[in-house]
Amino acid sequence: MPGLTIGDTIPDLVADSTHGKIRLHDYIDASWTIVFSHPADFTPVCTTELGKMAEYAQVFAQQGVKLVGLSCNDVQSHKEWIKDIEAYTPGCKVTYLILADPNREIIKQLNMVDPNEKDSSGNPLPSRALHIVGPDKKVKLSFLYPAATGRNMDEVVRVLESLQKASKHKIATPANWKPGDPVVISPSVSNEQAKEMFPRGYKTVDLPSKKDYLRFTNV
Ligand code: BEZ
Repeated sequence: MPGLTIGDTIPDLVADSTHGKIRLHDYIDASWTIVFSHPADFTPVCTTELGKMAEYAQVFAQQGVKLVGLSCNDVQSHKEWIKDIEAYTPGCKVTYLILADPNREIIKQLNMVDPNEKDSSGNPLPSRALHIVGPDKKVKLSFLYPAATGRNMDEVVRVLESLQKASKHKIATPANWKPGDPVVISPSVSNEQAKEMFPRGYKTVDLPSKKDYLRFTNV
């Protein structure tokens, strides 16, 4: 499906939000940013997801990340809905901004449409999409979940930490990696370079091919 994907620059759109009118590139500035969409205000799964985002906001702030929510209603509706979200998630405040998209224009620009769902007039329905945008304003990772499946914020924290580590070191994170676990050294790094780059050392897994490509280290 054509549309915004990994490696693309996020559109510099201007939109109304619960924090006033914003221009997306100015708002992102040079920060990592999570842009996440929701089908509609006052719907059950969305209420739990926005509450969870409020609960995790401090974790994302510690990772230097800005949050941009989006739901396909207007600002007035969002402001009323925030009261429900905060009541459902005691002790948490929705301090991140939520973009308004009552005409479902932004979800098309940001490739946040559910390809399988249409409303009764045949108009596109929003999915639970999430883009992680780097300080260069390029999309580094995207999720696209259907409306019926709520997202796991621990997974968002996990992949964000993987992306941030891989942007600093020539590493990748293996299957089921969790923050704190060893990482693997990129295949483009020779053993000589690896000794210089990873002074704490690394371990090569002995495999039948003897190609020495699976090397674990800690960063
Ligand atoms: C929900 O948030 O629960 C929801 C929204 C749209 C369709 C289905 C579920």
